[in-house]
Amino acid sequence: DTDCFTYDPGFTSTASCESKITYIDGDAGILLHRGYPIDQLAEKSSFMEVSYLLLNGELPSKAELDKFTYTISRHTMVHEQLATFFRGFRRDAHPMAIMCGVVGALSAFYHDSTDIADPEQRRIASHRLIAKIPTLAAMAYKYSVGQPFVFPKNDLSYAGNFLNMTFSVPAEDYVVDPIIESAMDKIFILHADHEQNASTSTVRLAGSSGANPFACIAAGIACLWGPAHGGANEAALNMLREIGTPDKIPEYIARAKNKDDPFRLMGFGHRVYKNFDPRAKVLSKAATEVLDKLGISDPVLDTARELERIALSDQYFIDKKLYPNVDFYSGVILSAIGFPTSMFTVLFALARTVGWIAQWNEMITDPAQKIGRPRQLYTGPTQRDYVTVDQR
Ligand code: SDX
Repeated sequence: DTDCFTYDPGFTSTASCESKITYIDGDAGILLHRGYPIDQLAEKSSFMEVSYLLLNGELPSKAELDKFTYTISRHTMVHEQLATFFRGFRRDAHPMAIMCGVVGALSAFYHDSTDIADPEQRRIASHRLIAKIPTLAAMAYKYSVGQPFVFPKNDLSYAGNFLNMTFSVPAEDYVVDPIIESAMDKIFILHADHEQNASTSTVRLAGSSGANPFACIAAGIACLWGPAHGGANEAALNMLREIGTPDKIPEYIARAKNKDDPFRLMGFGHRVYKNFDPRAKVLSKAATEVLDKLGISDPVLDTARELERIALSDQYFIDKKLYPNVDFYSGVILSAIGFPTSMFTVLFALARTVGWIAQWNEMITDPAQKIGRPRQLYTGPTQRDYVTVDQR
């Protein structure tokens, strides 16, 4: 092409990395964390146990788990100045906007754990992030609804503490419902890590420059917010509510198939899974269980099931191997627990923080690690000389 050339750098464009943390087989619909299948972890483990597994590579003994849980619980409070920091936001700010800002500011409060060359500071920063992200998420919710912040309580579980900080008010005690606590913990497990997705790759790329872990996690939160990624859980429930009743589904399926229409079925499709997302299978089952146990009937769940049935029998979705992903059913459960859709991606970021931190630690301790530098295939103009404005 005369006015541009394609620079062939003689390399394959696979920007890949080695990792021992999570394995995905997109065709077989397999997801393993350190070799353990996600459905077994979701049914039998706890988020604290999975967090230990992701960080350390092995399931903990009882003593190891107790020590880890105790350590995390002792980092759950945040600096009081952070409460002041929150008051700089507008009340109607999206909670993800607040999380981007507040987590990015953490290195201004915890600068004694930002030296990435010091293993002890890396350990403390990792534990601080895992412990404080639920506190900050609950504060973002409280700030958005104009209620006072609630302090963490160390005698509650990780999920129970988050629920209490989110839903309790000074006027009356909040009793953590074991059904909701278990559903929350399971949702955290299902969102904990997922190989080199966009936000994890963002955290790794930011970390490869030597940026402190708080700044790297803030970068991951920013990337996760997009509707093509973690923002899809909020978009999926909004879409299901907009569809309303099953008779409106064909109209939305037609739009999703129309190349000229930017609309996509939110919660469907995946960069890697060309079979069922195993997390969606667990969440689909959990949605029915949680709503039944809570005695809630939500027509959105019926719409979701009918949408899934119709889409999976449609040749377009069959040909393009589009299945429900982790974001399709999660919102039904989160809504039943009492979260507004604006908090859905915050909950995704809360859970994914341990995966980001595990991946960051793996990257930062790799002796062969260099700064990330994705290459490009140049398709712009060939070299040309400057022309003065009177000649143009
Ligand atoms: C997450 O990477 C991860 O692991 C992410 C994640 C994690 O845990 O970190 O799993 C979390 O981000 C899940 C995905 C959440 N996003 C959504 O639900 C948004 C809706 N889905 C999409 O926008 C889309 O499916 C992507 C972005 C997720 C992936 O799109 P790709 O890369 O195009 O790949 P695909 O196989 O899904 O799509 C192939 C084709 C495309 O058609 P062509 O351009 O090739 O002609 O199917 C079409 C797409 O246009 N398509 C859809 C569709 N998703 C893809 N058509 C209609 N509705 C959809 N939802």
